[in-house]
Amino acid sequence: MKVLITGGAGFIGSHVVRLFVNKYPEYEIFNLDALTYAGNLENLRDIEGASNYKFLKADINDVLEIDALFEKYQFDKVIHLAAESHVDRSISDPLAFVRTNVIGTMNLLNAAKGLWKDNFKEKLFYHISTDEVYGTLGETGLFTESTSYAPNSPYSASKASSDHFVRAYGETYDLPYIISNCSNNYGPNQFPEKLIPLFINNIIDKKPLPVYGNGDYTRDWLYVIDHAIAIDKVFHQGRNKETYNIGGINEWKNIDLVKLLCKIMDAKLNRAEGSSAELINFIQDRLGHDKRYAIDASKIGKQLGWKPTVTFQEGLETTIDWYLDNEEWLKNVTSGKYKDYYLNQYSSK
Ligand code: NAD
Ligand code: TYD
Repeated sequence: MKVLITGGAGFIGSHVVRLFVNKYPEYEIFNLDALTYAGNLENLRDIEGASNYKFLKADINDVLEIDALFEKYQFDKVIHLAAESHVDRSISDPLAFVRTNVIGTMNLLNAAKGLWKDNFKEKLFYHISTDEVYGTLGETGLFTESTSYAPNSPYSASKASSDHFVRAYGETYDLPYIISNCSNNYGPNQFPEKLIPLFINNIIDKKPLPVYGNGDYTRDWLYVIDHAIAIDKVFHQGRNKETYNIGGINEWKNIDLVKLLCKIMDAKLNRAEGSSAELINFIQDRLGHDKRYAIDASKIGKQLGWKPTVTFQEGLETTIDWYLDNEEWLKNVTSGKYKDYYLNQYSSK
């Protein structure tokens, strides 16, 4: 089986690629990634020589290139993670999100449909999405698979749009698809623009911790490897044309999470207790800031037997340890030096 994974040099994608390359030596795994600021092949250094793995540098916005790659490699199944993924960037440059998340997804759908030519036996387009498509919750309630879409940010609107197109290709052309919508991920290899790695990096450097508004916003956090395990289950056992919500059953108000992070890091860095919390700096709120996300993950639990394996305390400790042990990765990412890795490794190949 030839499996195309898009966005495999990014945060979640790299964990999915590693899991599939190691667990399924009989599959050929193709990692297609444009290596934007968020893509970093150093994330996959340990498996880059595996015989069942191939990296393809390509942009999903380039329709000719995408069609040519589908024709050349004859992929059987697609796991689509490539995306612009940061809400703050979507507020300052919404069109970039329409291009990659909507048009790029369309290009992949068309390429898959064109290659498979309506003979969809043993084929699958698995689209990775977010719980942010459902908009925001009040103090109570959970997002289920039948919650209406109500995206509030350009990021979530672009992901919602791509979800709709995937579903529409299933309804209109019978293209086999599955969508999963997951809550906030955290763990090793996450680019330090999202809350947890940004704050870990700033605590190391004793820089201010910019908390939006009063910090009274709630997110559900899932350890990234538990998400990769869920993706593996959905890919192999999920039902055609269904969607699955994935979440950590682990809600935290931002300010409580930041205080916990500060406390753990004070201990690990041998700093006086309370010193990192002094870096907390409440700043002007994010535009259109969603109040609360929380997932009802009972469908994937009942149908596929998935549940998170890592507690938040364990996951956070492992994540912090990883960033402390990989200060060079962090330095390369913040300085932009990680771009050299691709040039050194692949430019002559
Ligand atoms: P990320 O930003 O870390 O990685 C995105 C990857 O996609 C990068 O490697 C980047 O180079 C690649 N990419 C971007 N534009 C591309 C293009 N035009 N062509 C080819 N490759 C391109 O993102 P992530 O956090 O790993 O998220 C992966 C997917 O999971 C996204 O679809 C995101 O919407 C979804 N998701 C993320 C979270 C989360 O908490 N991070 C939660 C739920 C769902
Ligand atoms: P983020 O990691 O950007 O994920 P998302 O917006 O997709 O949920 O942000 C998580 C929460 O943390 C969100 O409520 C915004 C907040 N936040 C801050 O308060 N300060 C920051 O610098 C960042 C990046 C996020």
